[in-house]
Amino acid sequence: MRILWWLVVAIVLIATTSSAGEVRRLRLCADPSNLPFSSRDAGEPGFEVEIARAIAAALEAELTVHWVPTAREIIVLRQLYERRCDLVMGFPITAGFMDDKPRLSLSAPYYVMRQVVVASSVGGVRSLEDLKSRVVGVQAMTLSDQLVYGRGYNRKVYVTPDETFDALLRGEVDAVVMESPLAGWFVTRNAGFVATEIGDPGRDLQIGAAVRKADLDLKASVDRAIQQLAATTLPAILARYGITLAQARPPGTTLSPELRAARSTFLTQCSQCHGTDAKGTPAASNLQAFKGSEADFVRVVQTGRPGTGMTPWKGLISEEDIRAIARYVKQLATDSARQ
Ligand code: HEC
Repeated sequence: MRILWWLVVAIVLIATTSSAGEVRRLRLCADPSNLPFSSRDAGEPGFEVEIARAIAAALEAELTVHWVPTAREIIVLRQLYERRCDLVMGFPITAGFMDDKPRLSLSAPYYVMRQVVVASSVGGVRSLEDLKSRVVGVQAMTLSDQLVYGRGYNRKVYVTPDETFDALLRGEVDAVVMESPLAGWFVTRNAGFVATEIGDPGRDLQIGAAVRKADLDLKASVDRAIQQLAATTLPAILARYGITLAQARPPGTTLSPELRAARSTFLTQCSQCHGTDAKGTPAASNLQAFKGSEADFVRVVQTGRPGTGMTPWKGLISEEDIRAIARYVKQLATDSARQ
């Protein structure tokens, strides 16, 4: 049995690096369902799988993926140590992280993870300062939780990123502070929300890929590939997942409590058909382009449009609240005209 074992190790070594230190095959460990990071879905594989593929292509190596849940760091790193894969993406290049990992080496950084404020495109929340006197959603026990707690802001804590963003969609919180990959991914799929970097370089995390410390040649090759890809390929992949963010824009209008309540009603009752930015979906039209008066708006909403998905809302939402929704939609239109 021992002979067979040695044989296996030998084959792996030959398959991974040739005598010249050239990488022939790169085996990535990645989570099968952890978008925007990685996914088994070939149509949308996640930015870390795409970056690993670009690294392999730059090295003229073949990329294969060993799918493994990455929720627990220890499990995925064991796969690396036991040579089921050669590369794991997504680790912070910090002394604290490397401290207790003598068998691990991290590549050059391929992106910077930042703390980001996500809020509706109207409402004026564009920075940490704007969060004073607002309700801020954060994921428990994360860097952003620590940041918002440290500033003494009014915060609501959720268990997962999805729950945190759902609270924003429901209007339960005014803004969310989150790590840039998750924030960017949310914003690319939810029109009417923007993500703004908080601009605190002290909280930026350089992110690199992990390899076994013994694989010196592999680390050098991966570093070289990342350097080659840094100018165009990496930014293009990150942009596709919303991770390279727009620079901070001037704050939008501050919403009155009445319009904040209207936004919440709109997001819970109307946005699934008319879109989170009210600009329409295949199911219903663009309300920002509604040409009638406020009274016309109220009439349509109260009576509905017979024969369409637009059912009568009379008795369900008060006239006053429908008027507030009309004004909120108008504010959205004014704000998008300014941008
Ligand atoms: C189930 C889908 C659905 C929901 C939910 C919905 N609508 Fe509609 N809405 C429609 C459809 C369909 C129309 C008619 C066709 C069109 O305008 O696209 C419409 C039309 C309208 C119009 C007239 C648009 C025009 O240009 O004539 C207004 C105003 C409107 N909706 C407001 C609202 C408001 C406010 C809410 C939430 C309280 C809401 N809708 C919820 C589907 C929906």
